[in-house]
Amino acid sequence: MILIIDFGSQYNQLIARRVREHNVYCQIEPPDIDSARIKALQPEGIILSGGPASIYEKGSPRADKKIFDLGIPVLGICYGMQFMVDALGGKVIGAEKREYGFAELKIKISSGIFHGINKETRCWMSHGDTIGILPKGFKATASTLNTKIAAAENTSSRLYGLQFHPEVVHTPEGKKMLENFLFKICSCKKSWNMKSFARDAVAEIRSQVGGGKVILGLSGGVDSSVAAVLLQQAIGRQLHCVFVDNGVLRQGEAQKVQDVFHKHFQINLRFARAKNLFLRKLKGVEEPEKKRKIIGRTFIEVFEKEARRIKGVKFLAQGTLYPDVIESRSAFGGPSAVIKSHHNVGGLPKKMHLSLVEPLKHLFKDEVRLLGKELGMSDEQVWRQPFPGPGLAIRIIGEVTEKRLAILRKADVILMDEIRVANLYRKLWQSFAVLLPIKSVGIMGDQRTYENILSIRAVTSEDAMTADWARLPHDLLGKISNRIINEVRGVNRVVYDISSKPPSTIEWE
Ligand code: XMP
Repeated sequence: MILIIDFGSQYNQLIARRVREHNVYCQIEPPDIDSARIKALQPEGIILSGGPASIYEKGSPRADKKIFDLGIPVLGICYGMQFMVDALGGKVIGAEKREYGFAELKIKISSGIFHGINKETRCWMSHGDTIGILPKGFKATASTLNTKIAAAENTSSRLYGLQFHPEVVHTPEGKKMLENFLFKICSCKKSWNMKSFARDAVAEIRSQVGGGKVILGLSGGVDSSVAAVLLQQAIGRQLHCVFVDNGVLRQGEAQKVQDVFHKHFQINLRFARAKNLFLRKLKGVEEPEKKRKIIGRTFIEVFEKEARRIKGVKFLAQGTLYPDVIESRSAFGGPSAVIKSHHNVGGLPKKMHLSLVEPLKHLFKDEVRLLGKELGMSDEQVWRQPFPGPGLAIRIIGEVTEKRLAILRKADVILMDEIRVANLYRKLWQSFAVLLPIKSVGIMGDQRTYENILSIRAVTSEDAMTADWARLPHDLLGKISNRIINEVRGVNRVVYDISSKPPSTIEWE
């Protein structure tokens, strides 16, 4: 495995992704990890990530200097390189100006990291401080016009530094550089894949829960579904899944979950039919945050009640993913403003006094999908678009009523149908319909109509942090609009949402 020490770079997760793409397992740990724990992890190599701080800033993150004496190869990237140089007695020069963007890299020594790479290539820079003097035993191996020491190495101690970012696509040979570090310098083996992960995860789950019972909130989304199938393969009937029908699901969703998980995977599944309770609590509520909070609280209430019916449960399983783990402990991000309170089961474990089982907590989303396939799940299950916890309630602007839910559901079915037929489902991050609280005048036959407006939203995105509205073909938009207006009573106008995130968000509420 490769240990990545997190100095707070926005590209951290990308480093991890790149390493894993080479079938090598890696783990991101905070800078205060001590050398005893590092030894226990037995990494083949250490990567020190970049970070926003200057080594001269008070309180800038530092790792234990002993990591350089462990005999393990180290690659410092950007701030990671500066930390290494500073820690080993070299000199970092404070920034006069930042260097940001493409730079032409001139390679002087083509061994080590640069093995097999053209002597002139491009790299991506994003730094303030630069290296002035290298520590004893180091040689500069590459430069750019503005940065004399763009890369350096100490081959006898197997220490390497890159001032630029090999992990981003803007450094075209970056992948090869990391590959050189992993295989030529660290002698890693390509042993990380979803088959080996599943085998290890099953063993780990069994040893954690023993003969105990585990409860899992199954939503039908990718993460909880893959977690459920994995747990089922590890502990079979000791797993108890709870599906909460909150009344604001898409058409046919509850039935689908029943068919797939209960009938096909033979998972213990309890259905909490709580539609009426949710809709009663949502009655008269228009404010988006209020809706979210009501749904979040009611979910916990229903889930807890259902859980109490299963005697002797000791564990709560969740489909937490690696990005959540990394972000929640980031020492450098600081608290960000609450834009929308997310409906999740975060409050559950404390309240219920259960131990957490999080078998996916070291995986990225695309790895979870691969794992799902490995476990025998269908493309349809593992490639589902995300669906928010508060469901259609935040896609009906204004009050949520049965009547408005029925209109939105019908329109949504048509939209998703056409998106699938056009072969766009997997290309879009999300596609959905939003029912607006205003009416407009139309004409149908010879009659005047005064009916609802529906907006189509379709976005592309990598991670939901930013998103762009999808350039859906006009013919497709036309077809969707025609079908909805003709087939869904109560809608006489369809509009297309052409806003990006930021400044808009993906969901309307
Ligand atoms: P926004 O609307 O903030 O959404 O741009 C970003 C992504 O998160 C999804 N989303 C949620 N997912 N519970 C969830 O599990 C929620 O409360 C929630 N709200 C938004 C949204 O669909 C998009 O993919």
